[in-house]
This record gives sequence, structure tokens and C-alpha cells, in this order.
Amino acid sequence: LDKKVRQNNWEEGNFINYKKMSENLNIVRSRLNRPLTYGEKILYSHLDDPEGQDIERGVSYLKLRPDRVACQDATAQMAILQFMSAGLDQVQNPVTVHADHLIAGRDGSEKDLARANEVNKEVYDFLASACAKYNIGFWGPGSGIIHQIILENYAFPGGLLIGTDSHTPNAGGLGMCAIGVGGADAVDLNGWTAPKDIILKLAGILTVKGGTGSIVEYFGPGVDTLSATGMATICNMGAEIGATTSLFPFNDSMYKYLAITKRQEIADFARVYAHGLRADEGAEYDQVIEINLDELEPHINGPFTPDLATPISKFAEAVKANGWPEELKVGLIGSCTNSSYEDMNRGAAIARDALNHGLKAKAIFTVTPGSEQIRATIERDGQLKTFEEFGGIVLANACGPCIGQWDRQDIKKGEVNSIISSYNRNFTGRNDGNPATHAFVASPDIVVAMTVAGKLTFNPLKDKLVGADGKEFMLSPPQGDALPAGSYDPGRDTYQAPPKDRSSVTVQVSPTSDRLQILKPFAPWDGKDAIDCPILIKAQGKTTTDHISMAGPWLKYRGHLDNISNNMLIGAINAANGEANKVKNQLTGAWDAVPAVARDYKAKGIKWVVIGDWNYGEGSSREHAALEPRHLGGLAIITRSFARIHETNLKKQGMLPLTFIDPADYDRIQPDDKVDILCTELAPGKPITMRVKPQNGAPYEIKLAHTFNEGQIEWFKNGSALNTMAKKAQK
Ligand code: F3S
Repeated sequence: LDKKVRQNNWEEGNFINYKKMSENLNIVRSRLNRPLTYGEKILYSHLDDPEGQDIERGVSYLKLRPDRVACQDATAQMAILQFMSAGLDQVQNPVTVHADHLIAGRDGSEKDLARANEVNKEVYDFLASACAKYNIGFWGPGSGIIHQIILENYAFPGGLLIGTDSHTPNAGGLGMCAIGVGGADAVDLNGWTAPKDIILKLAGILTVKGGTGSIVEYFGPGVDTLSATGMATICNMGAEIGATTSLFPFNDSMYKYLAITKRQEIADFARVYAHGLRADEGAEYDQVIEINLDELEPHINGPFTPDLATPISKFAEAVKANGWPEELKVGLIGSCTNSSYEDMNRGAAIARDALNHGLKAKAIFTVTPGSEQIRATIERDGQLKTFEEFGGIVLANACGPCIGQWDRQDIKKGEVNSIISSYNRNFTGRNDGNPATHAFVASPDIVVAMTVAGKLTFNPLKDKLVGADGKEFMLSPPQGDALPAGSYDPGRDTYQAPPKDRSSVTVQVSPTSDRLQILKPFAPWDGKDAIDCPILIKAQGKTTTDHISMAGPWLKYRGHLDNISNNMLIGAINAANGEANKVKNQLTGAWDAVPAVARDYKAKGIKWVVIGDWNYGEGSSREHAALEPRHLGGLAIITRSFARIHETNLKKQGMLPLTFIDPADYDRIQPDDKVDILCTELAPGKPITMRVKPQNGAPYEIKLAHTFNEGQIEWFKNGSALNTMAKKAQK
């Protein structure tokens, strides 16, 4: 294990440290003295302090040292701006940034890419220059989707990756524990059943919440029948059951994939450490679900939610019974979930079969290659041409319609219609912004087959089609190798490595930009209790991160904290009047928009608080939902309970997330009360006092709980987690 094996072919000084991982693991093993799951093994082998770390499942806050960080262009903007505000001269961990989320699909790759380069110029210029400045690898527009690039270039068995995107767990297909800031006796998958069907079925069993807080591990004889990219599909969609991440143990498919993607040395090294790259014999799990691959049918999930799973044999019936529009308008393949060579190969085989019978796609058909490497390889090997002959539009190597970057022309907004994709998410409006679109998800095989038929009730396992010659035929079950023969074609070079000398690089942000704004570090705590804070809003009922920081058109400003803060809490319902975005300015008595009132308090140097209900901050882990209240002068968010990730995000930005020890206190507080927060009492495990001062009536005290540990209290004191890091790094 002493060997020096590079993590990837792009970076010089970053090595895979199986030796250190194995040493850490031995320390933890001697402490726990029980068999470990694969997930536990990876996490514990990356502990910062394996001797001193508290290890109590579900309780301890682990301090981990990840091997890498990956960001997509939408989330990278604010991440880099925040990083810059810490004043460090380079990133402390290997990082890559991927320009994939901001490219809208419409006319096909070339034109769409040219348009994106124009529209997003300042964002791309900023990212490219900031990456060069801070020693970050930059994969430019057109290079492909983050998770595919990670799988092809950076993922390795046993590694720990943190990604700013919920489908980061895709890298579990190469046995990497990849976290987004999200025994069968069968032996094979046959015919029309694809790896995707395993996770579609599991989503039906576990629902969108069933994996919350868990690492999902796959094991058993079926595992070795899957390709690495097939396993990546399954791990990718673990995000749809709420899992923290998903993992497969290291096996031959991963070995082959590493080898063909020019990482033979890593593949060999992983074999040496193979015992560390799977669960221990006898490891115990909270729950074991058995799926018999021999009996597994293709599934179609949706509409509107990825956990409404229907096997294909029952799907036509379900379409009729539910009144889902039977005509299929569009079939879309690709996305980070399903854009591997195998997916394209099998899809093209079905398209070729149809073409051989004189048929083309009846529905509109789009293809999104996951990376430039996939695109170039399927161009070389002919699948791309087949798709085009079939009537397909090949979109840019990017997220495209998966993230709503789709300038859809075939229907009007509001028109009821059906589409089917090989993507992972199908929530209302996700793909085309049309709430009347019924979006279904399935394997690429099923998507292509249905596109041939042009209707959702078609079952390729039993239904016949009529060929151009008037004869009936059935589509043959798809076949296609998982990997190209020989090698991948790398295609165009779209990678920008950080230069050796970075001192002369300037980060490009125009001071007049409305999309990007350089951040200043938040001020440290003044060391005093906060007296007479107004309540900006007493939010009532559900307050999700979308209520706190709305998406849609606001996403344009995600690199400009001041501009995007104009959406702060505009969706939250004010308990005082039952309305959204209308609160009383306690200084002037006037009613105004929430951000406007917050800005007024801030301008006058007055700290404010928010009162919230149960599970405040649920929904996607949007960091802006924590940055905005901090930016506009908030001090504390006091609720009946928090969604865990949002609570942590607030702490990271130097805010105080506090909860009522007695939930009934929420009802006692009136929106026009003032409060004192005794910040000086903040200590781990101890409640903090809030003095409530009603407009009419005697002040009273209530106790608030919090979950700050020592380290997190430092975040509060220093103004943010980032300030704390910067302080440490400068020492
Ligand atoms: Fe992109 Fe959709 Fe994946 S947005 S990262 S292709 S889930």
C-alpha cells in the first residue's frame, strides 16, 4: 500500500492514500471491535482524528478529510465567492468545477452551446478565472455533466468526495463514497430490464423519504452482473430516495472501467486494497431489501414524483385508469443518470432495429451525451448517426432539459401532455416549467422503445409494431456492450488546468454586474447579548427553503448575494396577517415586503430574528436560504424545529438556529413583540435564554435549545465557518 498512485490523470500532486486509510481504519476497528459496513469503512478511514473522534452512530458529528470536492457551475458561483471572501490563496483540497447546468437545449449541441457562451459569458469568465487563480480544475461548457466527468476521470474506489450537487453519489458506481451537499439468487439482468430498473423499483419500495439519513449499500451476486456505469446510475438515483449516498463494493466491472478510462494503475492499486473496499463479513445493516434480478421487470416511475413505480406489465392499465395523456410527446435520453456508453449503445440498438423496419421516432426525441468523451465515442462508433437517422436531436453535453434548460417549442404552457425521460427527477415543471406536463422516468431502453411507438401504453415486451412494409414485428431486446472496444475517444479538449504561476491571474467580476458580486466576510459577533430585536416575521406553517429563497427566475442572481436577497422569505406566510411577503416594519408601523423591512433594520444597525414553525428549512439544501438572512442583518432563527441541513447551513453562516424547548412558546410570541437573545450564554448542551417583551404586558423569559458544539460556537463568534477556517489557515 506504500505505492504513490495519482488520483487522476490531470493533477500532479494528489495521490490515493490507501495506506493512511488502512491505518486509520485499524485504529477505529480496535475501538469499535465489530464488523463494519463498506460505508462505515470509507468514512472512518477518512477521519481527521481516528483516535480522538467520538463515534456514536446518529449522534456524533464526524470530522472528515475528503479526497476531493466537485462543484457544478450553478452552485460553484456562490461557493467560490464565499471561498474568496476567506482570503486564502488556494483551495486546500483538490477541487474541480464543471460548466454543465446553464446550457439551454433547443436546436442541438452546436447552436445551443454558442448561445450559452453568449448568455453566460460573465459567469463562465468568472469561473474560469477564479479556478485558475485558486488552483481549481475547470471543465468548460460542452465538456459534459459533472457526475459523468467525475466517473470518467476522478472517482476511485474507497475515496471520499463531496459535491455541491445532489447526484454526486453517482461516483458510488466506482465504489467511491460521494456525498452531495443528497441476497438474491438471481444472476443476471435480462432482455429489457436495465440497471435503472433496480433503483426505480427501490424508489417504489422506499419512497422519496425512505433513504433519509442513510447510506444505501448494494451487495449480493447480482452486483457483479452490473457494469460500473450501471452501478453509477443506481447510486445517482439514490438521491431520489433521500439517501445521503449509495455505494457498491469494488469489483471487476469497476476494474475494467478504470482501466479503459486510462486509470489502470488505480485499478491495480484498488485490487491490492480490495479487502478495504467492501463490507466486512457479518456487517449489520439497519434494513436489508432483497431484489431478485431474474424477476425484475422494467419500471416506469411518475408522473410528478420518482417514487410512483409501475412495472411495465401494469403500466398501460395505469395510464388509462389515471387518465394520464396516452400520446407521448417527447422522449429524452441522457442526463447524469443515464448517459453512459452502454446506455447510448443499447438505445441506438433499439433505434436501429426500428430503422431496419422503416420506422423513425414518432415522438420528438432528444439525446444528451453525458460528456464530450461519450459524444465523441458514439460519434466514432456510429450510435450518434443512428440517433440522428432515427430523428433525434443531439443536445449539448450538459444538463439541458433535466434542469429545465429546455426551450421547448412543441406545446404551449399549460397544455396537458406526456413526456418520458431517462433522467432521475420528474417533479412538476422540472423539465419544461409546465405544470401540466406529465413526466415519467424509465431506463433509456424503455424511453427509446416508447418513442418509436409514440404512446405510453406501448409495452415492448409484448406489443407489436407495424413496419413500413405493413408487417407486424416486435422490437428485439436491446443489446450493447458496456464499454467501447479498445478505448474511448476523448473528443475536444475542454479542460482548463490551473496554471503553475497563478499570481498574475485576476478573477473577472465586473463591479456593475447584476449576476456576480464579490463577497465581504461577515462581521464577527460583538461579544454582547442582543437587546430589543424586532421579529422580522413570525412564519406560520410550512417554511421550506423555497419559501426562504425562491428558485425560478431568482436563480439568475445566485452569484450576487445582494440581488438574490430580494427574495428572502417572500414565500413565508406571516402569522400576523396570513399573507406572504407583507410584514409590519416595527420601527415605522408601515407594512412592506420582507426584504425591504430587513434592509431598513439593517441600515439602522438593528439585529432582527425570525420565528418559525415545525421543520423550518425543509426542502433542497439551498445555501442562499442561510446566506440571505445573514446578509440582511438577521441574528437568530427561532423555531419549533429545523430541517437538519438548513440548521447546519445557518450555523455555518454565523447565525443562531434556536428551538423552543416548549413548542407551545411559539404560540405565546406575538409578531410585534421584541426579544433579547442572551448570546453570551451560548455553550454546548446548555439552553439559552430569550427575554420576550410584549408591546403591552410584562416581559417574560423562555428557554431555547440549540445543537452547537464547541467548534460551531467558534463559527458564531468569528462570524462564519469560513472566517474560522481563514483564521486557522492564516495562523
Ligand atoms: Fe444535471 Fe440533471 Fe444531473 S441537472 S447534474 S443532469 S440531475
